[in-house]
Amino acid sequence: MYPIQEIKPSFFYVGVNDRNKHLFENLWPLPYGVSYNSYLLCDQKVALIDTVDIAFIDLYLQKIEAALQGRSIDYLVIHHMEPDHSGSIRQIRQRYPNIQIVGNARTLEMVAGFFSITDQTIEVKDGDTLSLGARELTFLLTPMVHWPETMMSLDSQEGILFSGDAFGCFGANDGAILDTHLTDEIWYPEMLRYYSNIVGKFGSPVQQALRKLKDQPISMICSTHGPIWQTQLSRVVSIYDQLSRYQAEPGVVIAYGSMYGHTEQLAEIIASTLADNGVDRVVVHNVSTTHPSYILRDIFRYQGLIVGSPTYNNQLYPPIASLLDKIESRGVKDRLFGAFGSYTWAGVAGKRLKAFADKLAFEQVGDSIDSKQAPTAQIIRETVDMARSFAQQLLFKQPK
Ligand code: FEO
Repeated sequence: MYPIQEIKPSFFYVGVNDRNKHLFENLWPLPYGVSYNSYLLCDQKVALIDTVDIAFIDLYLQKIEAALQGRSIDYLVIHHMEPDHSGSIRQIRQRYPNIQIVGNARTLEMVAGFFSITDQTIEVKDGDTLSLGARELTFLLTPMVHWPETMMSLDSQEGILFSGDAFGCFGANDGAILDTHLTDEIWYPEMLRYYSNIVGKFGSPVQQALRKLKDQPISMICSTHGPIWQTQLSRVVSIYDQLSRYQAEPGVVIAYGSMYGHTEQLAEIIASTLADNGVDRVVVHNVSTTHPSYILRDIFRYQGLIVGSPTYNNQLYPPIASLLDKIESRGVKDRLFGAFGSYTWAGVAGKRLKAFADKLAFEQVGDSIDSKQAPTAQIIRETVDMARSFAQQLLFKQPK
């Protein structure tokens, strides 16, 4: 019999850790793995909450069998249809043929589209309830946190919120599922990276969801990824609130590309000038060696963004262009911006960076610095002046 993780009486964790996948969505690195969380509520009726990636079906079924102790499952409640959570629906239905699939109209449309399943389904609307006996689930539709069908459900008897991707975190669960024993070292930056890369585009829907949750009696948040939030619950909600408003901390990200070191030289000058002028948190990223998911994380975190690009084929340097596209598509707002770069015979990067700042209504400090070939004494002076002004404006914005 597989060991059972019982979170509370009649409430089991049946999710799995994935320590093998390199890229989440084939895009985002997973240095600490990821968990696909699924839960089982065993009352008069039994409800399975979401499923897991199909790669783990054998282990998943063993865990469910162990928790069920001979019972069957009445309901499969689906909060989100992305295949990291919905991947095992067909196999669950085969194993438990009387199961009824519970989802909203958009969910059931996707269940039909992904799995050609159209029978034994129960459609729920916002505020509907499902009685399991002593427990009752209330459904809260939270579209676009992360897909249009995403919803949450609340077991109000114990204040357990099943939140789908919301409040999720990269990183496998190392032993404990509850957040009690976590340190900040891994989960905090991995939550920021998860939010900024996966959910970051949907700040406004996240705000709507948070408003919906505001007066609910929540004592525990069970997301589809990462730990169950109990002791850190208010901190996690506050992180989501801050990130979805695009509010940032004092600090500066310098993201630069450089082929032969001239743009990089300016990046180093800017970084040291910021530090010399009182900016405590300066993060420098070479876009050719750092995966963009880490750069995006820091851009969501910090108020200042300074981008450096060579001119390449009369365009921005390709990894910089790609990064700017990611920033724009996530609707990042209210950043203090700076721009620098270099070229050999035709300078274009500076103008492109300014156009980017204008488009996103970022406040640019000074003009873009565009160094022709190696930086001259004049260019170095202008770079130092820009960085000094940047530091002053950034620090001026902070509450006294
Ligand atoms: Fe973890 Fe949007 O799926």
